Amino acid sequence: MRYQAVIFDLDGVLVSTDRYHFLAWKQLADRLGIPFDEEVNRRLRGVSRMESLSIVLERSPVCYSAEEQARLAEEKNEIYRGFLSRMTPADVGRDVLSALFALRAAGVKLAVGSSSANAKFILQKIGLGEFFDAVVDGTDITRSKPDPEVFVKARERLGMNGRDCLVVEDAVAGVRAAQAGGMDCAALGDAAEAHIATYDLGQFSEIVQIVGRD
Ligand code: BG6
Ligand code: MG
Repeated sequence: MRYQAVIFDLDGVLVSTDRYHFLAWKQLADRLGIPFDEEVNRRLRGVSRMESLSIVLERSPVCYSAEEQARLAEEKNEIYRGFLSRMTPADVGRDVLSALFALRAAGVKLAVGSSSANAKFILQKIGLGEFFDAVVDGTDITRSKPDPEVFVKARERLGMNGRDCLVVEDAVAGVRAAQAGGMDCAALGDAAEAHIATYDLGQFSEIVQIVGRD
């Protein structure tokens, strides 16, 4: 087998919560009268909540104090958690589930490496709270992607070498993080379109073949 472990990003990879992030930031930006679109949203993928807020506020004519910014981030998170609270196991795609089970059956170690402080809540809502061998999230790290911290911690918790791990990402910042951590990366969506990863995936299920190669 080419890889002994796979470390998955969560938002936009295992589940489509990237859409909920977009809707929550849009609602906040609309209330504040700040233009917000898919182009700005792309820059928020993979980066922490406070860094995301700074990017959203780049277009604001008003300057907000650190205290006000903390409140704005909390407001966005409450809107976002409203979407998350309605999630169920049906929110995990069949292609994702069958790839996860095929990898598990082949003896591959599986982890999540996410910048989100809501990652464990999401995993529990979708019925995968106990599934992974390791979960490293926004509460475990001090530096967000493209810093490799989250993936290096996940790799260490699995007890693996970098060359034996494959990271799966939908964010350009996430691909950079995997590379900085000395790991190969399979890219989906935006990240695949950037053509910077080891593999650009058309479909999620391709991961199973990539991992199983000699
Ligand atoms: C990442 C998302 O997974 O988590 C980012 O791609 C988000 O868009 C980050 O900002 C932090 O998420 P949360 O849930 O802690 O606000
Ligand atoms: Mg993502």
